[in-house]
Amino acid sequence: MSKSQKLFNDAKKVIPSGVNSPVRYFEPYPFFTKKSNGAYIWDEDNQRYIDFCNGYGALLLGHRRKEVLSAVSKQLTQGTMFCTPTQSEIELSKLIIGNFPSIQKVRLVNTGGEATMTAIRLARGFTKKKKIIKFEGCYHGAHDSVLVKAGSGSAHNGISVSDGGLDEVSKNTLVVQYNNSEELERLISKNKDIAGVIVEPILANMGLILPEKNFLSEIRKITKDNDVPLIFDEVVTGFRVSPGGAQQHFRIKPDITTLAKALGSGFAVAAVGGKKEIMDLLSPGGKVYQASTYAGNPTSVSAAIASIKTINKIKNKLYSKLEKYNTMLTHAIDDMAIDLKIPHQINFTSSMFQIFFTDKPVVDYSSSMNADTKKFKKMFSSLLHKGIFIAPSQFEVVFLSDAHTKTDLENTINAYDVALKSVKN
Ligand SMILES: Cc1ncc(COP(=O)(O)O)c(C=O)c1O
Repeated sequence: MSKSQKLFNDAKKVIPSGVNSPVRYFEPYPFFTKKSNGAYIWDEDNQRYIDFCNGYGALLLGHRRKEVLSAVSKQLTQGTMFCTPTQSEIELSKLIIGNFPSIQKVRLVNTGGEATMTAIRLARGFTKKKKIIKFEGCYHGAHDSVLVKAGSGSAHNGISVSDGGLDEVSKNTLVVQYNNSEELERLISKNKDIAGVIVEPILANMGLILPEKNFLSEIRKITKDNDVPLIFDEVVTGFRVSPGGAQQHFRIKPDITTLAKALGSGFAVAAVGGKKEIMDLLSPGGKVYQASTYAGNPTSVSAAIASIKTINKIKNKLYSKLEKYNTMLTHAIDDMAIDLKIPHQINFTSSMFQIFFTDKPVVDYSSSMNADTKKFKKMFSSLLHKGIFIAPSQFEVVFLSDAHTKTDLENTINAYDVALKSVKN
């Protein structure tokens, strides 16, 4: 019995299902990780994997990035947590505002879910309205308002609304098909109680789904025309798609933005920011309550400052390299799948991609749900066997990092070759 299998048996006795977040589980049991560095993680049985899960997108700069580690090490000598304001929070806020011109003020939180929860409460506080519109398949965290037709782990398990979640809450969340701005316009025009629209500008929780041309500019126009705040959930895309996220890439200014993942390069830090008149509603100055003991803790803040400074310093090389590597990888996988006559789609952009086993384009929730997940699982297991770790679900994304090398890509392409053949058989 492998050490991971033994640890999983132990874990199940003390941790529900043996994991601390549902997507971490896969059949027959997940490997247990001992350490990581750069592009790699090692399991407890000393097997090395090239990591393409990359902390579900957080590790844009790779594991144990030296600039981040040295900033955190320095902070550790000064203290880990004060629960008083610090100068470094101002520095981080200025860096975030510098990269995201739509953000005039920002509050730091710990997780993406906390950021979207606060963004939604802010939108409600600002408009004094109740209902939120989200798009099918977008995942915004594990809180009641957004666990409605959500992607990621909830799509994987076929759960749309969680047991224990209140219908009284979810009935205030209206759902529109992704890439369908007309449906949004119809819904907003007939409903006068809309507090906000929240969207992943690139949908990275149903596999990868790209916004169609004009989708984002149309939803910006519709929300502006109707005085409805637009929330860009850039928890995945922030810093990953460009230093200023998807909003910089698509040149669209939302009213509120949420950030997490790549902001902290492996440390728990997230942010919600936006227009001054909205952000100033937060307590204690305003009446929208938000609080957290660990928010803005100096350890995570030092990691975030180092991450943004590093990204800004190397941006010219970073994004072109990631895009070049992603193009190489996805083209090679596409060619192999075509040669093998496997019906498939590959959606990709910047440093993210996903393959779907279906002959129809994947543009929304239902086209993603139509993909053959049994084939995906087979491919995942084969890749894992060959030392390639991608997120274990069809409804997640393959993430490249700055640490991947050309040799890593060649090894990955070889592993996909074997994996696709296993799907064919
Ligand atoms: C787009 C998006 N928003 C919010 C979240 C929630 O973030 P967290 O898991 O840090 O709460 C996620 C998590 O994957 C996400 O992908």
